[in-house]
Order: sequence, then structure tokens, then C-alpha cells
Amino acid sequence: MPTMGGLHEGHLSLVDRARAAAEWVVLSVFVNPLQFGPAEDYVGYPRDLERDRELAGARGADLVFAPTPEEMLPAPPLTRVTMREVTEGWEGAARPGHFDGVLTIVAKLFHIVQPDVAVFGQKDAQQAAAVRQMVADLDFPVEILVVPTVREEGGLACSSRNAYLSTDERRRANGLYSALLRARSLAEGGETDPRRIEAAICDALAKEPQIELEYAAVLDPDRFRPIERLDGPAIAAIAARVGRTRLIDNIVLFQEAGSDGR
Ligand code: PAJ
Repeated sequence: MPTMGGLHEGHLSLVDRARAAAEWVVLSVFVNPLQFGPAEDYVGYPRDLERDRELAGARGADLVFAPTPEEMLPAPPLTRVTMREVTEGWEGAARPGHFDGVLTIVAKLFHIVQPDVAVFGQKDAQQAAAVRQMVADLDFPVEILVVPTVREEGGLACSSRNAYLSTDERRRANGLYSALLRARSLAEGGETDPRRIEAAICDALAKEPQIELEYAAVLDPDRFRPIERLDGPAIAAIAARVGRTRLIDNIVLFQEAGSDGR
């Protein structure tokens, strides 16, 4: 499974899923410069390869593939994987070029590692949707599995970027999950108007002084388009700043029976 390192329980749950699905498990660690905007945290992104190797090995990865930037990108690639629709809104709108960078590096990793199965996290739901779409559109011979989001005790989704949060911010960031739980309980209670669910998330977070909500949207989990009525698969996705750290999270509101972690 592809990662950018700074491994945490979320990444390690991907290893568990891969172990259950495959005989030989490869975890890649590559902080991908193509997916960071100029004002983003490429330089400061948490890097500790020794720790990552130990954690991945202890959890059952057979190989950690950690190419240097020069090995992976000897020259800036002139070819990019770009995608319409799925990648246009939300994270794609907030981070221009981000998904082209993700998909280009994931395509390269698939060609280098040639996995039968690749595991991604629901935490980055738009990324997982884009990878599924790329694999379908371009006939990559790989099965994509998506695992549920792993959370810290208070509900905050595990993320390498949580390392940027102060103790106080970390505690307050749990409010994101509370707002998502509120959204799910409304959906479970029979609310079918996505706009009311979005408004409930905004209201819940308006009470949190240190959380600045960027978006809250009820979306089709495959196309990442807003839905008009909650009567099929749907997720609620949010992005917010807690202090200077930008966090994303989502929750499944309705799931098709038998789908894998979505
Ligand atoms: P990174 O943020 O390191 O995440 C690697 C994988 O771990 C992604 O599939 C992500 O969704 C998953 N993941 C992260 N936090 C998780 C959590 N709390 N629970 C479950 N899964 C979680 O996503 C990337 O790296 C990059 O964009 C990458 C795909 C490696 C391409 O560069």
C-alpha cells in the first residue's frame, strides 16, 4: 500500500488488511512532491524512515519500498494522470493539482510494485474514489480495497499531520468527529435532506472556537458530487483548520450492503 510515512495506526490497519488479502505485502514510503502545493508542507512533512520500517515490519509488511526523490522522479514528469469530475470539487478545489500529483505517483507505484491488491484508507475518501476511477478507466490489473478510518481515543482521525497539533488543539479537533457523528445520527433518524445535514455540521462546529470549517458536504462517494436526496450511498465530508493545521475527515451516512469499508 502507498503511504507518505509518518506511520500511525491508520496506516498499520492497511497493513493488517493487506496481510489478510495477500501473501506478500509491500508498503511504500514516499513523500510525493507532485501532490503538494507551493505553500504546503512538503519540506516539513514528518519523515522518520527508521521508525516507519520498524513499525511496518513489526506489523507484518514483507518489504518497505522507500525510493529517494531522485530515484522516483529523476526528472519532472512531462506526463500526468489527470481526472475530471471526481477530483474537481472539495480537496481538488482546495488544493489545485493535488490529485494529478497523487494519481501520477500512484500509477507509477502500481507499475513499479505490480500489486494484485492495493489498500487505501476511507480517511481520504476522495482520493480512494479517484484511485478506483483511475484503475477502472485505465485498466490497471489491481483490486482496490478501502479500509475504515482509524481514530484516536477522542475520535480524531489518525493522520501524520496530527503531529502539528498542540495538546489543546488535538483535544479540540475531536469536535470534528462529534459533528460527523451528529450528521450520521440525523441520517439514521430519517433525515433525507442533505442540506439540513450539512447545516447541522456547520452549527455543531460554529460552537467550537478553534475550529474553522472550510467545507461540509454530503456527497456521492463514487463521483464526489453533492446529492439531492439521501436515498442511496452517501458520505459527509469535511475540511477544517484547527489552528494552522488543515484536517479532513468524513463519515459514511449510507452504505451499500457488502461494500468494503466505504
Ligand atoms: P498518506 O497520507 O500517508 O496515507 C496513506 C494511506 O493511509 C492512504 O490510503 C490513507 O487514506 C490511509 N490513511 C491515512 N490515515 C488513515 C486513517 N486514520 N485510517 C485509515 N486509513 C488512513 O494518502 C497518501 O499518503 C498519499 O496521497 C499517497 C496515496 C501515498 C500518494 O502519495
